[in-house]
Amino acid sequence: MRTVVYPGSFDPPTNGHLDVIQRASRLFDRVVVAVARNNNKTPLFSPDERKELIKESVSELANVDVDVFEGLLIDYVTKQNCNIVIRGIRAVSDFEFEFQMALMNRKLNEKIETLFMMPRASYSFLSSHLVKEIASLGGDVSTFVSETTSKALVTKLRKVS
Ligand code: PNS
Repeated sequence: MRTVVYPGSFDPPTNGHLDVIQRASRLFDRVVVAVARNNNKTPLFSPDERKELIKESVSELANVDVDVFEGLLIDYVTKQNCNIVIRGIRAVSDFEFEFQMALMNRKLNEKIETLFMMPRASYSFLSSHLVKEIASLGGDVSTFVSETTSKALVTKLRKVS
């Protein structure tokens, strides 16, 4: 049984993230999408909100679980009886940070491998950051995120403004 962990902030999950999840679910027995609780960014959505947004979008993928984690990724991956981390790479600009993180994680635990997956090319410009910016300025993000996420953005941004 080959389990992989796909970690990230997912604030909010985009169609690019969902594309990577779908691809990974076809390749592995089980995919655990792990929403990071403690990263240095100040998220718009709480970890549980992000978890629910992803869950709603992957409900038809029987081998995908969504969880929240905190602490070191390598510790969480080990607890899942797993040794593979999936990360999405959209463009060369992602590579430097991803390379650094993958090698640092390998240094911390050499049994854990990072696999990079490319989302569909038409999503290569998509980022959670841009989606939030566009939504906060009243733009339409319905082709970049799920319908539920699009509505959640409108509601959340109304509350915080
Ligand atoms: O979607 P993001 O923000 O690029 O995801 C980054 C994330 C959450 C995968 C990364 O910050 C992480 O693994 N955080 C957990 C803490 C950790 O293990 N840090 C050391 C990474 S080398």
